[in-house]
This record gives sequence, structure tokens and C-alpha cells, in this order.
Amino acid sequence: MNLPNINEARKRTDKKTEYIYLNEEYDKSAFKGKKYFIRTYGCQMNVHDSEEIAGHLESIGYKSVDSIEEADLVILNTCAIRENAHDKLYGFLGRCKHVKTSTNPNLIIAICGCMAQEENVINELKTKHPYVDLVFGTHNICDLEKLLNNKTEKQNIEVFSCEGNVYENVPYKRDSKFKAWVNIQYGCDKFCTYCIVPYTRGKQRSRKSIDILKECEDLVKNGYLEITLLGQNVNAYGKDLDGEISFAELLKKVSDTGIKRLRFVTSHPWDFTDEMIDVIASNDNIMPYIHLPLQSGSDRILKLMGRRYTKEEYITLFNKIKNKVKGCSITTDIIVGFPNESDEDFNETLDVVNTCKYDSAFTFIYSPREGTPAAKIDDKVPMEVKEKRLHELNELINKYSLENNKKLLDKEVEVLVEGINEKDSTKLYGYTDTMKLVNFEGTKDLIGTLVNVTITDAKSFSLDGKLK
Ligand code: 5AD
Ligand code: SF4
Repeated sequence: MNLPNINEARKRTDKKTEYIYLNEEYDKSAFKGKKYFIRTYGCQMNVHDSEEIAGHLESIGYKSVDSIEEADLVILNTCAIRENAHDKLYGFLGRCKHVKTSTNPNLIIAICGCMAQEENVINELKTKHPYVDLVFGTHNICDLEKLLNNKTEKQNIEVFSCEGNVYENVPYKRDSKFKAWVNIQYGCDKFCTYCIVPYTRGKQRSRKSIDILKECEDLVKNGYLEITLLGQNVNAYGKDLDGEISFAELLKKVSDTGIKRLRFVTSHPWDFTDEMIDVIASNDNIMPYIHLPLQSGSDRILKLMGRRYTKEEYITLFNKIKNKVKGCSITTDIIVGFPNESDEDFNETLDVVNTCKYDSAFTFIYSPREGTPAAKIDDKVPMEVKEKRLHELNELINKYSLENNKKLLDKEVEVLVEGINEKDSTKLYGYTDTMKLVNFEGTKDLIGTLVNVTITDAKSFSLDGKLK
């Protein structure tokens, strides 16, 4: 048993990152006939971690199923970024507990992901949820087989609060045959004062470019059309690799693999260089879409958040990208109600939105995360005020989303077809190069291909189109 510890998680030492090349002999018969079900909450990083977990499980004989009721093992991959993520977890745990007590007493219930790294969550699981069998942290995914073999502990908790290593030769089971996530970096050292990620995912550590390129080349060979490079702060890629390579250089090399569509998330404005903008602008397969979190438009709040840029610097960067990358769509993340945010502060945020006219945005009410510096601030702003601000912000964001989407009316766009529309099975959906969702009539043989679609209607959150 290893319990998480926030003070350990906060530490950054000068210990070198270890690169561990897995070369396991997997025994497919070890868990033959066993079935697993994974529920994933949170960001793309978590979605990709679930592909890793699924890969480990399938290498030792597990097969995936679509419901808790059919499973021998349920894994909840959790998110800790805001409080509502906690509510979702406990809701879902209730359902698992019901299955375990009513129909399948042998069901193994496991929890992993960012919430597993939180001390208060572990305390709650130990005292109020003893039926949870296994908890493993973001640094412990590779130990899954060992943990499943350990039958001695009733509630086995294996969570390291460490800076973390880099594992290679991971046996991913990818959800898609045409679009792939590729980690280029783990962890984060930015320590924005509201954010739990640097504690739950360890220090920033970049994968070696040779390993990333090999993975990308294999994906191209296997017919993948889209790669999204993943990291909490991709622009800082390489800074921990003794100057071997920058993100701009990596981006160019991945682009040269010939992948049809290349994307990356998430960018931090502070690390965004002119060189990166030039590489994006001059390579057609790097998609003209950038997610550029603003968080706040107020210099005072940005400083309290530890974001390392001012409103003016952000807008200058925004304009530089817009001017250089033709037709680039830019989306953002905004937090309202950071402790003691005033009306003036909030108006500065609205001012940036009015200047940038984002293609879309994820907006959040600030949620205090235990152990972060911002959670210690005595906040005088009532929740009703925060909710009102969020509502006002969303109205403005939606107005600009619609305006931007309307610019595509009657235009022909290229769409990577991802699947069948859940509400109308005669329709398919997919994304444009600028990451806009398009629904259009078509047959399912088009899934996984690039098609041209003429836009016939524009809404705030999606477009309708007609196949060419
Ligand atoms: N409260 C609200 N939103 C948060 N985010 C991160 N931490 C918090 C928090 N404590 C938001 C940021 C980030 C996105 C992934 O989640 O906007 O960019
Ligand atoms: Fe969190 Fe800031 Fe790191 Fe993003 S850059 S993961 S917001 S600490």
C-alpha cells in the first residue's frame, strides 16, 4: 500500500527523469475470459490513459464489455480539476456498489486517475467506500497486472506522489483506427495557483523525440489520418531535454511523417514562440486550430493565478497567430469567480472576449482545490454573482461562436468523418480542419475518411452540411 501525499507531490528536485522501456512478456492466458469496463472522466490525457489501461488489460487476457453488469472488473478513470468531477465519481460508484451487492459479489471495483492522487479522496474511500477494491495513481498504471494479482489486501491503494518517469513501449489499445492521441510530455511545472494538475501528474517530463517520431511513423503506416500531440503545456516540450529539440522542431518533424492532419493540445500562451507560429503557418497538414487558454482578462487576476502574461501580451500573441496562420480558429478556457474577482476584473475578461471573438470556449466557475495556493484565499464573492458572470460570459461566447460559424455558410470544408450522429442515424458527424463539428447525411462506409462537405446551416455549437 502507498498513500498519496500532497507535500511530496508538490516537490520538484533536480533528479533526472528515468526513461523506462517496457519489454514485458505478456501472458494472454493470465486473465483469460475476464471482462473489463472502463469509464473515463476528464481531459484527453485521461482518455489516452484509459487506452493505456485497456492495452495492459488486453495484453493479459481481459476483453472489453459495454456495461458494469457484464464486467468482472470496473475501472473509473477520474478527473480532479473541479469539484463536480467528484460528484460524478461518487454517483457512478453508487451504481457499481449496487451491482456488487446485488448480482456480482466478485466484481472488482478500481479507481485511478487524478482523483486517486488526492489525500482527501483516499480518506473518503477508506472510510466510506470499503467496497472499492483497488486504487492506483497516475504513476502506477504500469503496475496494473501486479495489482490485480495481489489478493492479500482488502482495499489495495497504490498511489505514488512522485515527480514521475517516462514509460515507453506502452501497449495502447486505441479507441479509433484513424485518429490517435500521442503523448509528447507528461506532468506540469507551471503551478498556476488554482490548478491541481502539477500535484496529480508530477513534474513536466518530455518524451524523447526519437520515440515520439517512431510512434507517429507507425501510426501513419497503419493508416491513421489524424494525430493529436498531447501534453498539459505542449509549448514547453523539450525544455527538460537539455536543449535537444524544441516544440516547433518536433512539430515540423511530425508533420514530415506525412500524417494528413496534425493537432496539438494544450498550449500555454507564455511558451508560444514565433518559431512555432511559423511552423504551423507553413505546413499544410498542421491544422489551423489552436486552443489558447486565457483564464482571465484581468492583469490583477492573471498575476494572482500565476499565469505569467498580461492581457496585452495575450492579445498581441492572439493577433500574431491570426495574422500568420490563414483561417486559424482559436478557442480558449476561461475561469470566472477566481477568489475576490471584482466586476472590473470580470469586465476585463469580457473585453478580451470582445477583442478575440473566439470560435468557442470552455468556461468554468472557479473551484477551490485542496492543497493549491488559491484555495487558501478568503473569497468574498457570493456564488450567485459567479453564476451570473458565467451566464453573461457564455452568452457572449455563444454569440461569437455563431458569428464565426456563419462565415462558413455555403463554403466547402474538409471533414474527417468520425461516426454516426447519436440523435439521427441517417447522419454522420465529423470535424473540420478548424475543429468545428459538422453533421451531414451519409453512409457509414465514410467513417474514417476525409470528405468534402458544403455548409448549409450554422449554429453556435455545430454546422450542418451536405456531402459534395
Ligand atoms: N477551477 C475551475 N476551473 C479550473 N480549471 C483548472 N483548474 C480549475 C479550477 N480549480 C480549468 C482551466 C483549465 C481547464 C482545463 O480547466 O480553465 O484550462
Ligand atoms: Fe494547470 Fe496551469 Fe499546468 Fe495548465 S499550465 S495544467 S492550468 S498548472
